Amino acid sequence: MTDLLDRLRLAVGDHHVLTEAADMAAHLVDWTGVHEGRALAVVRPGSTGEVAEVVRACHETRTPVVPQGGNTGLVGGGVPDASGEAVVLSLGRMRTVRDVDPVAGTITVDAGVVLADVQSAASDAGRLFPMSLGSEGSCTIGGNLATNAGGTAVLRYGMTRELVLGLEVVLPDGRVWDGLRGLRKDNTGYDLTQLFVGSEGTLGVITGAVLRLFPATPRHATAWVAVPSVAAAVALLAVAQARGGAHLTTFEIANRQAIDLVLDHLPGATDPLAAPSDLYVLLELAGTETDDSLDDTLEAVLSEAVEGGLASDAAIAGSPAQRSALWALREGISEVQKVEGATLKHDVTLPIARLADWAEAMGPQLAEVLAGVRLVTYGHVGDGNLHYNLNAPLRDGRSDDESLRLAAAELTSAIYASVAATDGSISAEHGLGRTKAAAAASYKSEVEVDLMRAVKQALDPEGLMNPGVLLPPA
Ligand code: FAD
Ligand code: MLT
Ligand code: ZN
Repeated sequence: MTDLLDRLRLAVGDHHVLTEAADMAAHLVDWTGVHEGRALAVVRPGSTGEVAEVVRACHETRTPVVPQGGNTGLVGGGVPDASGEAVVLSLGRMRTVRDVDPVAGTITVDAGVVLADVQSAASDAGRLFPMSLGSEGSCTIGGNLATNAGGTAVLRYGMTRELVLGLEVVLPDGRVWDGLRGLRKDNTGYDLTQLFVGSEGTLGVITGAVLRLFPATPRHATAWVAVPSVAAAVALLAVAQARGGAHLTTFEIANRQAIDLVLDHLPGATDPLAAPSDLYVLLELAGTETDDSLDDTLEAVLSEAVEGGLASDAAIAGSPAQRSALWALREGISEVQKVEGATLKHDVTLPIARLADWAEAMGPQLAEVLAGVRLVTYGHVGDGNLHYNLNAPLRDGRSDDESLRLAAAELTSAIYASVAATDGSISAEHGLGRTKAAAAASYKSEVEVDLMRAVKQALDPEGLMNPGVLLPPA
């Protein structure tokens, strides 16, 4: 192994091969704190050529490679297992915006560029890169592509895979595929770009990407709406779609439990409405500089909703500061759940027409498994995607974390079985990582799992790229 470490040092420089426990620590545990592993080294290449050198050296020594971006993933896909055999390949030094072309509507970036920096570079050129996640200040575009991330603007702009035109990838044997043509039309065979999107580091290391840009949308009309039920929220979505048309960008849901945690733990958070409601919707319309009708459209949506019994009250943002305050209530939920105590995450999609019935049936079923379990339900209801997260019950005013840990497997099985029976998916946007690889395989058909294994075998026959992630061991 000394030979490998020497080769890695030669490839990227001594400073960028971390082997001391303290230096590696932040790279070995995931954001949730659930997955913690060990590694031979954490390597930080500074260019595509250096990534290729590192991967080639690992290939020749049969060393597993774990690609890592901002390490904000929620399913343990970006951290190594406990064997200590893998090299973590961090893209954190590859942060160059290579090109912005406002006319073609493209931006070309290194994979390690942080999402918020892609947004800023687009904005500096008078354009919009629409992907938006609570983790955008630290997740990287490579991680977004590798997980096919979603977020709060999917309703209008689609998942990450709809925002990418081309990729540059270092293959498991160290060869480089340059697919950075950025063409909008290219019907010359299998779509290799899309093969790597959502592959969670199991087929290669993404080192660069050409992404789509859109017209800037500096105008917003934003409301925080109290709704009586999930069924009412879904009916409100239909009203907002009909009246808002292409301007409807965000339609998020959060239950009272989630908002109570935000009010408890997020400094400066305040309830925008006088009376508490069981459920809220964050609704946003966005438009260009010349779109003058957003406020009127929002008023019309809310009037129709109140008249139809779909909403009991609403707060409309009257300034950018008020808009940020409403967004903070929604974006703060992941963080405050963690502060509150043990959390069990479920990132599910259901057919939207069946979402309300599913949610109504699920709560009582879980309470039977663990009395007092707290449902912290929120997410991208416009996409049929609920973060059906659970917090531990309160005992004597404290989070009883141990009870949630003991019941975790049973709670998760109940949710997954019900999602499968409702024709849903157990991962809407976070991917499978280490957390859900085995469960996902058990819900897929044999044909589907065989095809996925065949793809993996074709690109990574030695199984060195992120082993144990996305597909369980055969
Ligand atoms: P990492 O966590 O470093 O890695 C994630 C996976 O991608 C791993 O399997 C890793 O091996 C692989 N990978 C990373 N970089 C590369 C690369 N260059 N080449 C190949 N493989 C690579 N996700 C959503 O979809 N929607 C949300 O709304 C959302 N909100 C979040 C809010 C918070 C507060 C947090 C903490 C997370 C949230 N996430 C959300 C999850 C997470 O931010 C996304 O999955 C994100 O895309 C991960 O990016 P990353 O750079 O941190 O990747
Ligand atoms: C979000 O949308 O805030 C995250 O994807 C959900 C989570 O952290 O579970
Ligand atoms: Zn989400």
